[in-house]
Amino acid sequence: MRRVQIAPSILAADFAKLGEEIRKLDTSGADYIHIDVMDGHFVPNLTMGANVVHAVRPHTSLPLDVHLMIAPVHQFISDFAESGADIITIHVEADPHPRRIIDLIRSHGIKAGIAIKPSTPSSAIDHLLDYVDLVLVMTVNPGFGGQEFMPSQLKKLKTLRKMIDAGDRNVLLEVDGGVTIQTAQQAVTAGADILVAGTASFSGGPTCYATNIAALRGLVAE
Ligand code: DX5
Ligand code: ZN
Repeated sequence: MRRVQIAPSILAADFAKLGEEIRKLDTSGADYIHIDVMDGHFVPNLTMGANVVHAVRPHTSLPLDVHLMIAPVHQFISDFAESGADIITIHVEADPHPRRIIDLIRSHGIKAGIAIKPSTPSSAIDHLLDYVDLVLVMTVNPGFGGQEFMPSQLKKLKTLRKMIDAGDRNVLLEVDGGVTIQTAQQAVTAGADILVAGTASFSGGPTCYATNIAALRGLVAE
């Protein structure tokens, strides 16, 4: 039986109170802090950079799970690693040689993840499964919080779960986008280890974070 882990995305946080928001998540049962980095080029939105990772680092001892939706990505890895990221996930679509970036991330002594967009098949990353610590399956088109979960991605999730288990690999399977109590159940049943949740974690304000996270994590994989 797998324990479901929750990674609240701070994209849905109150940026004017970011330190306070992170401290509240830390005491509300979050397992990771998910940080969505967007460049206005790989995705049609701009968010935050390594300076934000550096700024939030002192506010939590939870692992910082940094999701880079940027291209090119190579020249930013050191900045994010040195700013305190524990996991850096890049998109397979962001570089013609993702394995090189994965090796670069790991050379900093931290974990490396590979993410795939909804339009990318699981076969695009099968050659990388032996070199990553985490696979992130996007269940919305990357770029914005608050979008609707795409059930079409559940098949891919199941396939990746099988591929990971077949190789007896120590690779976490993370689902990102449109996670709600209902869709969380589907994602967990399909094999997710970690649920990224922006809107669903922050809904109702700080007094609800603990209940929101507990409700999402209450789901147990068969
Ligand atoms: C989308 C981001 C997600 C997003 C999740 O590009 O990668 O992490 O913030 O937000 P919700 O949970 O609101 O869909
Ligand atoms: Zn994300």
